[in-house]
Amino acid sequence: MDDAASPPGVVAGNRRGANTYDKSFWKTENLKFGEPWYRLEKAARLLRSLAKGRHCSLLDVGCGPATLMRMLPSNIEYYGIDIAVQRPAPNLLEADVLQVPIRFGDKHFDIVVAEGLFEYLGNAQEKKFDEIAQVLNPDGVFVVSYTNFGHRKAHISELFSNVQPFDAFRTSLSRHFVIDRVIPESHNWKHAQPNRPWLKAVNLRVNKSIPLVSRRLAVEYFFICSP
Ligand SMILES: C[S@@+](CC[C@H](N)C(=O)[O-])C[C@H]1O[C@@H](n2cnc3c(N)ncnc32)[C@H](O)[C@@H]1O
Repeated sequence: MDDAASPPGVVAGNRRGANTYDKSFWKTENLKFGEPWYRLEKAARLLRSLAKGRHCSLLDVGCGPATLMRMLPSNIEYYGIDIAVQRPAPNLLEADVLQVPIRFGDKHFDIVVAEGLFEYLGNAQEKKFDEIAQVLNPDGVFVVSYTNFGHRKAHISELFSNVQPFDAFRTSLSRHFVIDRVIPESHNWKHAQPNRPWLKAVNLRVNKSIPLVSRRLAVEYFFICSP
């Protein structure tokens, strides 16, 4: 139900009282993710190494303008779901995953990716993990990013409806998947994507948590999971 007191695009009221946003909001907002940027670059490297040159099917949940598709090699067959698809295509499905289950017809996938999505899913996290587990092949991989809200200067966007500490997110994820690796997406003194070329270059290559440092300086994490 629309809340008259909310700005356009805001759909009020999941059980925690947090707002979520509708298609009209995301149609404009997700255009900001239309060019390759740091997180996608690091994800694309990671996905290439997981695919190891084999033919793989991949589902990108919360794909936005499907920028990741352009950054992956042809052996990775790309499918995307988003509440606001920018350019309709047979491999892109427009769906609000808070309203319908995460699935793409009856397909199953070798890789499912959800980057920058779970922060916006209100109280639906556990249900969505469960749905993703159901569309993943038995030897598939789930790659999910999540903001490190334990950062020394944690920035919590007013758009986020699902904010929790690292350990709570990891525990919830581990109820549905085996977490094989946790990789810091980047480290930065500020809670922002690395912007200087040298900082990006270093961060692209750091694939391990650094004891004590990552907890306070990791901007986001990638969790690499198996069913
Ligand atoms: C922060 S953007 C991330 C886009 C892209 N994954 C990236 O990392 O560049 C979040 C994306 O999730 C999508 N999204 C948000 N809520 C959604 C929902 N309920 N169902 C489907 N997609 C949603 C938005 O349209 C947007 O494209």
